[in-house]
Amino acid sequence: MTFTHYIDGQWQQADSQGSFATINPATQQPIKDVAAGNKADIDKAVSAARNAFDHGPWPRLSGKERGAYLRKIAALINERLTELAKLEVEDNGKPYPEAEWDIEDTAGCFEFYASLAEQMDEQDDDVIEVPESRFTSKAVKEPVGVAGAIIPWNFPMLMAAWKVAPALAAGCTMVLKPSEVTPLTAIALAQIAEQAELPPGVLNIVTGTGPDAGQPLAEHPDVDKMAFTGSVPTGSRIMAMAANQVKNISLELGGKSPLIIFSDTDIEQAVEWIMFGIFWNQGQVCSATSRVLVEQSLYPKLMERLIAEAKKITIGEGNEDGVLLGPLVNQSQYEKVLAAIEKGQQEGATLAYGGERPEHLPTGYYVKPTIFTDVPEDSWIWKEEIFGPVVCVKPFTTEAEAVALANDSRFGLAGAVMSKDLQRCDRVARALRAGIIWVNCSQPTFVEAPWGGYKQSGIGRELGTWGLNNYLETKQITSYDPEQPWGWYIK
Ligand code: NAI
Ligand code: MG
Repeated sequence: MTFTHYIDGQWQQADSQGSFATINPATQQPIKDVAAGNKADIDKAVSAARNAFDHGPWPRLSGKERGAYLRKIAALINERLTELAKLEVEDNGKPYPEAEWDIEDTAGCFEFYASLAEQMDEQDDDVIEVPESRFTSKAVKEPVGVAGAIIPWNFPMLMAAWKVAPALAAGCTMVLKPSEVTPLTAIALAQIAEQAELPPGVLNIVTGTGPDAGQPLAEHPDVDKMAFTGSVPTGSRIMAMAANQVKNISLELGGKSPLIIFSDTDIEQAVEWIMFGIFWNQGQVCSATSRVLVEQSLYPKLMERLIAEAKKITIGEGNEDGVLLGPLVNQSQYEKVLAAIEKGQQEGATLAYGGERPEHLPTGYYVKPTIFTDVPEDSWIWKEEIFGPVVCVKPFTTEAEAVALANDSRFGLAGAVMSKDLQRCDRVARALRAGIIWVNCSQPTFVEAPWGGYKQSGIGRELGTWGLNNYLETKQITSYDPEQPWGWYIK
């Protein structure tokens, strides 16, 4: 059976009639065939979204009414929690407890934006003080229109929610193109939208590759806003495509985030957060803290503990009990990560642990947790996003040196600092040029708090009220007192 696209509230045959298989990275076997969308499919989906926005009920509903749909979607996701988490493990490879967490957060994201939608009704218009008593002025918020979303494979359903939930809460209609590597939970989301009786055309989902389905979406003149998460080169291309129609865009791109550890940090805590920061989700995390800077006096002991703990991580198929590291998402990611490890060694870095496939797993895209030391500052592995379970650790002696090393990057998504001296933590947190800073931890993410990057890590912020504003326009309405003559031409 081949899954079809979900367009205008119906399951529609792919225009191209083509399909491709999505693979389980633990077995390297195909799971299901999904429709290979093309420009004609995207055109249909955008026209359905356009029609639903221009003539349908969705943008005209009250926030409370839209919130009720989002709550229904959240409830349906929670009902299917285990099944959806298993689907994510199968398609992406991540350990089951992480997948369960993703799906809970997905439902939580819909609930959060349901509340924000409901609150929109109660919000008074923003009255603006103008220094002229004959005028009154106010600012009102309106949905930006038809939104396009292109998402990656690392948190498939959660990344869909981060875009779909705020867009729908705002009153936008949407066309979503999931990653061709992990399309299955996006298809499940379309089934859920159908079950929730979302009006036709409000949420359309087209599966397919970046060039065949993503590009026509980003280039489409009827799409008012593009939201993208993925790599810097693709993000930059999407920005260029959007430029033709001066589309509103938000981009959440890659990173090479630093974690600075001062010597007063508890060593066990340091090891725990280093590992969580880079081995969670096999290191396929945009905000992964892949560069670790450790104060010299703690460095030798910490390296010893880190390597000892990394050795103990259970690697295997995501559904197996106790597994904390699954396979990488596909063959190309596996090859890319192994090539990066090879390159690091050629560049003169010391491979302190890992760097290879675990002996007991002959099938599946597995790579051991990998630790590099003595990493040259101008090396590729120090500068570029590897997107795998590979960490580079470097000692430093002063706070200023650590901050300078941390900021020496074209990326600025996230950063972290650990120390018992909370004043120092705050000082360093403010000195780091990045959009998300963790103090005495790395990675925990809350739907209420802003998410996004400085520098080449992106444009705009997702989540929280910032995420809602991504899908809203601001309109000024200024009124003049009709009883008062203006007196310019007519005296
Ligand atoms: P990608 O950025 O190319 O893909 C992300 C999404 O963009 C997918 O849905 C893809 O179909 C779409 N896409 C690709 N080319 C497109 C185009 N020309 N027009 C419109 N849409 C397009 O990332 P990919 O190829 O999956 O992974 C490559 C590398 O990107 C990874 O090794 C990793 O380093 C990085 N990456 C970073 C992510 C992040 O969250 N920062 C997420 C995924 C990948
Ligand atoms: Mg897959």
